[in-house]
Amino acid sequence: MKILLSGASGRVGREIQRLVESSDRLRISGTASSEHFFRDADRGDVLIDFSRPELSARSLAFASAHGVPLVLGTTGIEPALQADIDAASASIPICQAANFSLGVNVLLDLVDRAAAALPDSFEAEISELHHRWKVDAPSGTALALGRAVAQARGSDPDAVAGVRGAGVREKGGIGYQVARGGDVVGEHVVTFFGEGERVELAHRCSDRAVFARGALHAARRLFGREPGRYSFRDLLA
Ligand SMILES: NC(=O)c1ccc[n+]([C@@H]2O[C@H](COP(=O)([O-])OP(=O)(O)OC[C@H]3O[C@@H](n4cnc5c(N)ncnc54)[C@H](OP(=O)(O)O)[C@@H]3O)[C@@H](O)[C@H]2O)c1
Repeated sequence: MKILLSGASGRVGREIQRLVESSDRLRISGTASSEHFFRDADRGDVLIDFSRPELSARSLAFASAHGVPLVLGTTGIEPALQADIDAASASIPICQAANFSLGVNVLLDLVDRAAAALPDSFEAEISELHHRWKVDAPSGTALALGRAVAQARGSDPDAVAGVRGAGVREKGGIGYQVARGGDVVGEHVVTFFGEGERVELAHRCSDRAVFARGALHAARRLFGREPGRYSFRDLLA
């Protein structure tokens, strides 16, 4: 399988290259970063993007123009670009996930079940911790966890979830706490606070190779699919 890699020089991009080099069934057939973009002649069976939204937009256009399936891991995507991604899925298969680790995808299921099983009086808070270089906040994974809680409770995530600030806690709100420092790959904790008890569900990642492995798994499973939107969980099944 030939892979076009967008964000090849980045932390996740380098992990993907390392895994591809150790496989005799995969090869990189073109790369893009802030310094250079794919050439028109670059061809691939799938395009993997872990970069910045500016580059993701160009990679999306390239994948659409050449009919190449897209595995999209970049976070911090604004609504206008998200609308372009959704529209492009009418012509190419796209797997977009805020987190390509198996563990976080199990965590999403557990959070969904906990939010549905616990009464709304259990107040949900999501804390996340990442390395000092991370650009977007809260993390895409924290936002996905917040959406999972809101959807399980039948509420609109945009209306109820936000970064925790000063003031008395509002009823039904979902608060995000963000910490940045050191070389932490990524940690997420979802807490449901009840009266006299609390439930905590957590995931801690110590090696970004898990994202690279997940993205390559998604790439293999996306190849040959019909155009459309696929979650990472769809491709794990
Ligand atoms: N979905 C997941 O499982 C998952 C997991 C981890 C991270 N992520 C996300 O993946 C993305 C990349 O993370 P990372 O830690 O690998 O980032 P990174 O180390 O900062 O690498 C970013 C990549 O994007 C390129 N780039 C940066 N700014 C650019 C610009 N303005 N125009 C074009 N290219 C630009 C960089 O090229 P240069 O080196 O030339 O600057 C580099 O190749 C982030 O959005 C992160 O949140 C997702």
